[in-house]
Amino acid sequence: MIKHLMSPLDFSVEELDRLLDLAGDIERNPAKYAHICDGKKLATLFFEPSTRTRLSFEAAMLNLGGSVLGFHSGDSSSTKKGESVGDTMRVISCYADIAAIRHPKEGAPLVASMRSLIPVINAGDGGHQHPTQTLTDLLTIRSLKGRFNGLTIGLCGDLKFGRTVHSLIDALSRYHDVRFVLISPEELQVPGYVKESMKAKNIPFEEVVRLDETTMKDLDILYMTRVQKERFFNEEDYIRMKDFYILDKAKMEVAPDKMLVLHPLPRVNEISVEVDDDPRAAYFKQAQYGVYVRMALIITLLGLEVA
Ligand code: CP
Repeated sequence: MIKHLMSPLDFSVEELDRLLDLAGDIERNPAKYAHICDGKKLATLFFEPSTRTRLSFEAAMLNLGGSVLGFHSGDSSSTKKGESVGDTMRVISCYADIAAIRHPKEGAPLVASMRSLIPVINAGDGGHQHPTQTLTDLLTIRSLKGRFNGLTIGLCGDLKFGRTVHSLIDALSRYHDVRFVLISPEELQVPGYVKESMKAKNIPFEEVVRLDETTMKDLDILYMTRVQKERFFNEEDYIRMKDFYILDKAKMEVAPDKMLVLHPLPRVNEISVEVDDDPRAAYFKQAQYGVYVRMALIITLLGLEVA
């Protein structure tokens, strides 16, 4: 059976552990994996802009000895002529061994996977899910904190449209004694279905508006997010919201010493550049972990064994 990745919950906790172990081994012993994908091709089908996800997927496949093909805009593909995402995927199945697809419509990668003859990875669908960012976040947290159990995680910014937040909540909700502090303006709170899911699993969470010393005092991780301009219906609302939170040096001075700062990137203004040198700022390391975990994901979905 072909294995796809649409949501982080497509992997059991045990499968996820194995994937993260593999990513850790790749980080320590990259030469061991340098030819495991010789002769294999990855297609990157990006109907929305991307820097990290597309290029880290491409770097991952090249690091494994494989090749890459694809497009970085729907406008440069036959979608422009009216081809459906299902037909596109069916055809790409004839050209590549595995595909990563990003699409502005929620569920489009799932539709693509239903017509595909090769593994399909959801590289972000609208405001819904971004499972490979979650794998990146989990590898970062496990590498730098050493555990998932017992963590208090603050999620700050656009929690309504920020798909990385929805996927991360889903994934972390499977561990013990995890607590969320949801920091957002009222207009950008996490969707009702995400809250209902946390309630059904008895995951403790609180919603607050301010990002200050009191909010941050118990946090092990502060996960900042950008206000998702591209999902707003009007410019006025975006302009009103865009600088609601700015994590700067003054805020970091009253934050706990142990509090890691993560961000899926790209950042706009929500983290001042002056925070980059703070030892707690881990967002560029996080981007590096994204390559290792995508290498592990490609190997896993292709069912490859290290010689
Ligand atoms: N984190 C992330 O998805 O970044 P890109 O939009 O640049 O891929």
